Amino acid sequence: MSQPLVTDSPLWSRDALWAGSALAFPVLFLDKTRALHHANAAACALAEKVQPGAGPQALVGLIADSDWQHAFETGYWKGVVRPDPEHPLMLELHCGQSPDSGHCILVVVDISERGERQRQYEELQRTVQRLATTQEQLLRSEKMASIGQLAAGVAHEINNPIGYVGSNLSTLQEYSTALLTLLDRYHAALFSEDPLAGRSEILQARRQLDIDYILGDLPNLLRESREGIERVTKIVQDLKDFSRIGRDQKMQPADLLQGLDSTLNIVWNDLKYKVRLEKHYTPLPLVECLASEINQVFLNLLLNASQAIEQRGTIVLASGQEGDEVWISVTDTGCGIPPEAMPHLFDPFFTTKPIGRGTGLGLAISYSIIAKHHGRIEVTSKVGQGSTFRVVLPIRQPRQEDASPLPSQS
Ligand SMILES: Nc1ncnc2c1ncn2[C@@H]1O[C@H](COP(=O)(O)OP(=O)(O)OP(=O)(O)O)[C@@H](O)[C@H]1O
Ligand SMILES: [Mg+2]
Repeated sequence: MSQPLVTDSPLWSRDALWAGSALAFPVLFLDKTRALHHANAAACALAEKVQPGAGPQALVGLIADSDWQHAFETGYWKGVVRPDPEHPLMLELHCGQSPDSGHCILVVVDISERGERQRQYEELQRTVQRLATTQEQLLRSEKMASIGQLAAGVAHEINNPIGYVGSNLSTLQEYSTALLTLLDRYHAALFSEDPLAGRSEILQARRQLDIDYILGDLPNLLRESREGIERVTKIVQDLKDFSRIGRDQKMQPADLLQGLDSTLNIVWNDLKYKVRLEKHYTPLPLVECLASEINQVFLNLLLNASQAIEQRGTIVLASGQEGDEVWISVTDTGCGIPPEAMPHLFDPFFTTKPIGRGTGLGLAISYSIIAKHHGRIEVTSKVGQGSTFRVVLPIRQPRQEDASPLPSQS
């Protein structure tokens, strides 16, 4: 144990020195010139720790003039006195100075550990930030992967209406040629000397050109073509909504059922040949969320449901509200999930699908999206009968101060 330092200065009463020595905190007694007159055992121990063998004067020497000034004027100072990145030394000074003599009692607290904890906390915050960025990238790449998977389907989906709009346009071109030919005949007759003389010829041309059929078919062709264009526009719009992930970082009230329908529109090509779809929607209030991310969850659940159905089956989409939460469920009559797989469903890279078919990220990403929204995903399943994935979300997000930690996986 270090011995207290005591000079034979008459400046300090024995009582004061005795009281200072008894304290567990490092205490220094200085005169107005900052000369050290007394240091208690704790101060000597601190000095030994900071600079072995240098004595308690070393503590005084560590503090810059301007910082002394501050400590004397305000009674308090805190700062880093040794900016060593490995072991920074951070001290807190509590200072009492006699206004008459300028003598000063100084309590020195080593707060390096507090500083260290602060540093660790900041490091942790940086790590959390890095993780959030990584998660965002993962989300993006998963989205890219699912979009890649869907590209063929979407191309087909767009190709189909484009195909019949194109063929309708050729037919419309033929029809317009016929109509213009007939118009020419009318025109010629109208300006001939005897307009009525050409009447039978015109009627014959009308029959030959199949004008009655054309007039009947024309509205259908136009309606079909308009619908085709609208369908393409809708798919392009839905894809645009999808690619918006991560950009609209602010949660906003959104119509979840509309999101589910747009997502369904995108995957429909994958589903339509083997799936009978049932919708049991109960209208929902607007839900505060990042709509594009929730759509990605729907996409993953719909794709999983479709992939679980081998030949033919049914997917039921349902919704409901319970108190201040809403739920959306996707039920399939697919292969079901064995009990031993249940605990791993949300693990990243857990997949039972062949290489190239599944990455095992769909549910992991969905879980983190829903957790970010303070919701949960509930799963029930029976092997050979099918599965239900139910997404439960709060209608309003908790405010920052009363936000609960991320829900645990169950
Ligand atoms: N509706 C479902 N029916 C049966 N099994 C399912 C269903 N949904 C998920 N699973 C099981 O959970 C696993 C993980 O699903 P997840 O969506 O995370 O990955 P994936 O579908 O295999 O691949 P990815 O979604 O990345 O293309 C699946 O491989 C499958 O075994
Ligand atoms: Mg999946």
